[in-house]
Amino acid sequence: MTSNVAPHRLADPALFDAVAAMMDNAWTQPGFCVPNGEVYPHQWLWDSCFHSVIWTKLDPSRALTEVDHVLATIGPTGFVPHMNYWTDPDAHADLWARSKTSSITQPPMWALALSEIAACGVVLDDELLGRAARGLLHLLDDRPRSASGLACVLHPWETGCDDSPRWDDWASGPSAPFDRVGWKNDKVRLVGSLVFDDHGAPIDNPDFAVGSVGFSALVAWNCGLLAPLVAAAADPEVAGSVDRLQAGRDELADAVRSRWDDDRRIWWDEPLRGDLGPSSGARTLDAMLALFVDPRAEMFDQLVDAEAFGAPFGPRGVHRAEPGYEPDQYWRGPAWPQLTYLLWRAAQRGVAEGLTASSTARMLATSLVDGARRSGLAEYWNPETGEGRGAAPQSWAGLAICV
Ligand code: GLC
Repeated sequence: MTSNVAPHRLADPALFDAVAAMMDNAWTQPGFCVPNGEVYPHQWLWDSCFHSVIWTKLDPSRALTEVDHVLATIGPTGFVPHMNYWTDPDAHADLWARSKTSSITQPPMWALALSEIAACGVVLDDELLGRAARGLLHLLDDRPRSASGLACVLHPWETGCDDSPRWDDWASGPSAPFDRVGWKNDKVRLVGSLVFDDHGAPIDNPDFAVGSVGFSALVAWNCGLLAPLVAAAADPEVAGSVDRLQAGRDELADAVRSRWDDDRRIWWDEPLRGDLGPSSGARTLDAMLALFVDPRAEMFDQLVDAEAFGAPFGPRGVHRAEPGYEPDQYWRGPAWPQLTYLLWRAAQRGVAEGLTASSTARMLATSLVDGARRSGLAEYWNPETGEGRGAAPQSWAGLAICV
C-alpha cells in the first residue's frame, strides 16, 4: 500500500471498499482480473490496463503484475493480442485459428498503466519497458495508415467500441434499424478476412481497414506517456525508442487534427480504401477521444452540455441529436466508465491548458462516481438514469476510485 491510498478511501469509504472487494474477487492466476467472472472470464487488453490503474490505488504490486501479463504474449514484431486465454487456451481457438490468444489488438493503454505505476514510486525494469515500446512501435510502423496518416484498425473489436454507430457502413444488412445479431455475424466474418504477417500479426483486412480518430488519438497519447519512461531506461536500445515514440505521437496528432470538419463539428474517420460513408462522421464518444490530441474548447463543452453528450451519469456514448441514440443499447448510447475516465483525463489537460473550466473535469468525475454507485459497478449504464446495463460487477467500473 502506498500513501496515495488513504485520500482515495477517505473520499468515499463504501465505494472504495466495494471496489477493493470486487477487484480481489476478480483476481485470477497467473495474475490479472477477469472483467466479469461469468460474461468475460478471460483477459482483455484494455480492460487489464484500466484494472492496473485501479490497482495503483489498492495494491501497486498487482498493478505491475496485471500490465506485465497484458504484454506477456507480445509477438516478435510487437503485436499485442486483445485477449489472452490463460485458463482455457483453446476457448475460442476456432474463431481465431490459434490457441492461447486472439488475433487482433485493442487500444494500447499499457503506457497509461505504466505511467500511473511509476507515479506510485515503483521502478519499472528495462525489459518490461522494452516490450511496452515495441508494442507501440508496431502500431506506428507495421500497421497501415489511411491517406491522412491515421492508424488503421483492422476489425471493429480492435477499437474496444465494437457496436459504435461509427462502423455502421460496414454492416452487411440495412443500416437502420441497427441489427445487433446481424452485426455480430459480420464481426465474425470480419475475423475471417484478416491478413497476417509471417509472425501472426494482423497487418490488413480488405473488408475492414479504417483510419480511426479515436484509436489514433489513444495510440498518440500512450506514445507520449511512454516516452519519458523509456528515456530513463539504462538499456540504450530501450532508451533509443524515445525519438520514434515522440515523432509517432506528433504524426498521429497531425493526422487527427486534419480530420476535423468545421461544418459537422466532429472529426471523421477515414477508410484505407473505398469511399467515405456517413457513419465515419457519426458523433460518438469514441470519436471525442480526439480531444487528447486536438483539444478544442467547444468540444470539451459538448461533453457536459445536456443538448450534446452531457448527462447526469456520464457523457452519452452517442450525441443526443443523433437519430440512432439509444441510451440502453450496447455501444449505441450508454455511458461507459472507461470512456468517462479517459475523457476526464483529457479534460484535466484541457483545464491545465486553459481550454476548459475545472467544472468540466469535476462534472465528468462526479458523473463517473455517481454512475458506478447507482449501477452497482456495471459494465456500462444508462447515462440519464444510471441504471446498470451489461455485466455487473465489471472490474473497470472501479475506475470510479481513481478520479
Ligand atoms: C466488450 C467491450 C470491450 C471490452 C470487453 C471486455 O466486448 O466492447 O471493449 O474490452 O467487452 O470487457
